[in-house]
Amino acid sequence: GKGAAMVTAVAYRLAEQSRQIAQTLAEFQLSSEQLLEIKKRMRVEIQNGLSKSTQDVATVKMLPTFVRSTPDGTEHGDFLALDLGGTNFRVLLVKIRSGKRRSVEMHNKIYAIPLEVMQGTGEELFDHIVHCISDFLDYMGMKSARLPLGFTFSFPCQQTSLDAGILVTWTKGFKATDCEGEDVVGLLRDAIKRREEFDLDVVAIVNDTVGTMMTCAYEEPSCVIGLIAGTGSNACYMEEMRNIEMVEGDEGQMCVNMEWGAFGDNGCLDDFRTEYDRAVDDLSLNPGKQRYEKMCSGMYLGEIVRNILIDLTKKGFLFRGQISETLKTRGIFETKFLSQIESDRLALLQVRSILQHLGLDSTCDDSIIVKEVCGAVSHRAAQLCGAGMAAVVDKIRENRGKDSLSVTVGVDGTLYKLHPHFSQIMHQTVKELAPQCDVTFLLSEDGSGKGAALITAVGCRMRSEING
Ligand code: GLC
Repeated sequence: GKGAAMVTAVAYRLAEQSRQIAQTLAEFQLSSEQLLEIKKRMRVEIQNGLSKSTQDVATVKMLPTFVRSTPDGTEHGDFLALDLGGTNFRVLLVKIRSGKRRSVEMHNKIYAIPLEVMQGTGEELFDHIVHCISDFLDYMGMKSARLPLGFTFSFPCQQTSLDAGILVTWTKGFKATDCEGEDVVGLLRDAIKRREEFDLDVVAIVNDTVGTMMTCAYEEPSCVIGLIAGTGSNACYMEEMRNIEMVEGDEGQMCVNMEWGAFGDNGCLDDFRTEYDRAVDDLSLNPGKQRYEKMCSGMYLGEIVRNILIDLTKKGFLFRGQISETLKTRGIFETKFLSQIESDRLALLQVRSILQHLGLDSTCDDSIIVKEVCGAVSHRAAQLCGAGMAAVVDKIRENRGKDSLSVTVGVDGTLYKLHPHFSQIMHQTVKELAPQCDVTFLLSEDGSGKGAALITAVGCRMRSEING
């Protein structure tokens, strides 16, 4: 009768709905062949960044860092460190003791950088940074000491020495004017002078990946790679000098900041990008740039999720077809929320309460779908990141002319640390795509701060060696 027909119609509609949702999420599934292809393309881009003839058009810039060795345990002294470009801005005091009882003691304070400062003028940004240093020195009672400082500045910098770095381009959420093309150490020194309150000796500018690698290498000498899976995504590793054509000399090694977030900016990932990736890119502060980073880092995953949810809502599959103001708001799904939603220990009711908390009224069915969407997006992110890492470890293996390699990667970043599945999926992907390498991942505790201090210590030592 009529009732049965209606039941059939509802059942049909539901089946059709799940088919369409599955179809949407299937775009985020990558086969082993596809992942191998991505690894291969990363390898091509690595070569383009290292070679003189292709460097200027290369998207993966492979920037020399002038860090030529990992720590040897003789590092010693008190250092200031700044950490700019991750989730928080911090000022740190790091005391490194060498000898039999090696130790690193740290004090740090977190400071907010208001959005209007991140996206205001360069002078305002650096004045704010120096204001925070001033507050920290007061807090520690150390205004009069002229301490050596290491500046962890987590953006692409073209370096000519350990203490000079020209900002190539802002990435992530920063957009302060008059900084791109300028030496960041110079900008910091100028701001310190403007304040006329204290003096500091800026010794090194350090990418967060490099700080992370150095921190892990301090404990584990086989660590020659640094990885950040956080707000942004990037890696560095010890490359043979003979392969770094942009730097004079063939002896030994130098750490290269890959800036792999820009992988794909020449279109080489277009066949893997979805309409949602394109939407996130188009609405970002830097359209067309950092395309790989926009598929695998914390600052963007929530945005991909939000764009999928909007689409599914438009199609009437979610939130009773109502696109709320909340859902229209950029940046609502922080890494923290994705991590909570995907936690296995969380009951669906709790997923609903998280969504409720964000201002999204969901049914039980809605919450199931939201969780699936989050899963698809973060799973792909971890696999993509793993494919990039597989290219790096195989490159190092080939550099050494070996059939097998055992190496350690120092890792940091909120996505890696907070997300319930990201790390495991990434590890698994590296294992599958680089079977000749035995890769150990070592979580770096506070890599940016400690690493900057270690590099500063090495820098001070090198300077005193040169000056006799
Ligand atoms: C962005 C920056 C890069 C940094 C990474 C992780 O990709 O360009 O320098 O290492 O974020 O913070």
